[in-house]
Amino acid sequence: LPSHYTIPSTGHRIPAIALGVWQAKPNEVGEAVKTALKAGYRHIDGAWIYRNEAEVGQALRDSGVPREDVWITSKLWNTFHAPEDIEPTLDDSLAKLGTEYLDMYLIHWPVAKKDGQPYDKDLTENPYPTWQKLEEMVEKGKVRNIGVSNFNIRRLENLTANPLKIKPAVNQVEISYWVPQVELLKWAKENDLLLEAYSPLGSTGRVGDTLAVPEVKEIAQELGMTPAQVVISWHIQRGTVVLPKSVTPSRVVENLQVRALPPALFDKLEEAATSHKPYPRLNPSKGWGLDFDIFD
Ligand code: A2P
Repeated sequence: LPSHYTIPSTGHRIPAIALGVWQAKPNEVGEAVKTALKAGYRHIDGAWIYRNEAEVGQALRDSGVPREDVWITSKLWNTFHAPEDIEPTLDDSLAKLGTEYLDMYLIHWPVAKKDGQPYDKDLTENPYPTWQKLEEMVEKGKVRNIGVSNFNIRRLENLTANPLKIKPAVNQVEISYWVPQVELLKWAKENDLLLEAYSPLGSTGRVGDTLAVPEVKEIAQELGMTPAQVVISWHIQRGTVVLPKSVTPSRVVENLQVRALPPALFDKLEEAATSHKPYPRLNPSKGWGLDFDIFD
């Protein structure tokens, strides 16, 4: 399996597996980051809104791993999409992480909305002003790559219809056995866009179900792997970056030890994942009181 992918627009090499730190609690996340770096992870996927960047940064420094050896991603929160708000929140993330630059900065959601205000329809529908500011952050050296998260094909096409100086490096979305994202994956491959899979094990309440899928269990048994390793390997074989989250040391280590499934077994799992009935995915549209669906 590839250990890295190359970002088409910059040629930078991004490690295929990241430790995801969403939902990692304070006092747990630092330990998980240290365990991960010790186990060989060189990619940490975080965000300003996870509210754990200071602890992640402290762990990075404590680990003794040189900054330039680790790929650090953070994300621009919804309340800061207005161009004038971007550099201050980026600076806040940089200060908390204790670094001069990010390897990747993503628009976290295609929603521009300040707290207590209705969403900004223009900036949500066409985030070009946001993107231009992110391009400026690249020029300033504060960020090496820029991308998006939770964008569907329509939103990707809207954004890339603008005269961008830098094309999005990645789109980070929910991808799992339950949400295989076949159409988006096809579009991404045709358009030189790398996808990153969040909740790759099924996250919100479905990890147990994923690891109990008959095909997953059979393949694990046949290859002497754990069910989680089978699923993580499958993600990489589909060509996406994968962000398994764990705060359990043995799992953090386990999740990095992956290898290619033989083609027939890969096909079997792909077939199972893409032929079951559709499952709902994480969609905060209603929770955020939006009068539109983020994924429409
Ligand atoms: P924990 O953090 O307590 O170790 P996802 O990666 O899809 O977001 O799923 C994260 C969930 O999966 C967490 O609850 C995590 O538990 C659990 N998990 C992570 N790795 C494994 C593994 N190798 N085996 C079983 N469960 C795992």
